[in-house]
Amino acid sequence: MSNLAINAENLTYQYGDLTAVNAINFQVAEGEILGFLGPNGAGKSTTVKMLTGQLLPKSGQATLLGMDIVKQTKQIQAKIGICFENTNLYEEMSALDNLKLFARLYGSSASAEVLLDRVGLNGRGKDKVQTYSKGMKQRLMVARALINEPRILFLDEPTDGLDPVSSETIRNIIKEEQAKGTTVFLTTHDMLEADKLSNRVAFINQGKIVALDTPHKLKQKYGKRAIMAEVEMADGRLETREITLDEANTGTAVADLFAKEKVVTLHSEEATLEDIFIQITGRSLT
Ligand SMILES: Nc1ncnc2c1ncn2[C@@H]1O[C@H](COP(=O)(O)OP(=O)(O)O)[C@@H](O)[C@H]1O
Ligand SMILES: [Mg+2]
Repeated sequence: MSNLAINAENLTYQYGDLTAVNAINFQVAEGEILGFLGPNGAGKSTTVKMLTGQLLPKSGQATLLGMDIVKQTKQIQAKIGICFENTNLYEEMSALDNLKLFARLYGSSASAEVLLDRVGLNGRGKDKVQTYSKGMKQRLMVARALINEPRILFLDEPTDGLDPVSSETIRNIIKEEQAKGTTVFLTTHDMLEADKLSNRVAFINQGKIVALDTPHKLKQKYGKRAIMAEVEMADGRLETREITLDEANTGTAVADLFAKEKVVTLHSEEATLEDIFIQITGRSLT
């Protein structure tokens, strides 16, 4: 069995009467990217906060790299990187000085220049953070999260509301980190991002994990595959025919379509993660 980066057992958090995270269980293998996909308020950030030592679980437990998230918070924090929704950069300082400061705090010899280069900010390193756009700040936060060469990277909605260049830069960093063996815990409500980047996706809704598998298997299990055909009628009008795949009569339906109708266009349809999310939870991701 491969080593576990994250092992969560019945992890639970309540804010007063509201159960934000409800006894969730999951495991993430080292080197894996887990997409944590759910709408606003599902409990994604609360989960990240418990795993990274910012909130104490009300019940349940979890280990990161075999270390207990409550008893070994300090040791864990040396080995993880966190990029959270709220910026905690020093706005009065330059990007380079921010990174150098955090490198010193971590006792890291990582080069601030190299990190800035990786997130496409090398030309702007000497500028104060307060002059940065939202996307540039977020890229700097990602660079900061990498300063200690973390073995697990937590990214909480890292591309939410960002310009395409910043989003793409961050997605590339995620892929590069995985290639280096880093585990990535990625929360998002962007189904395409989850689909493109994740080895496995957890669907989270109202504090519960309602499905967890590879995007491919989720689509196989829940998604309906279909062929959509446009056919031309005798009077020249176009009509649409849909044939569901993977059914006993699919073969005859396809044969009949071509034997009896004039097929003009043909394409196949696959369920998206959003379709499947709606199917399981009855609600959309937005
Ligand atoms: N500090 C807080 N006090 C009270 N309720 C909170 C607090 N933070 C989050 N919540 C509630 O907990 C639930 C889960 O929130 P959160 O973990 O932030 O979800 P997500 O990150 O998936 O959007 C939501 O209903 C949210 O309103
Ligand atoms: Mg959140």
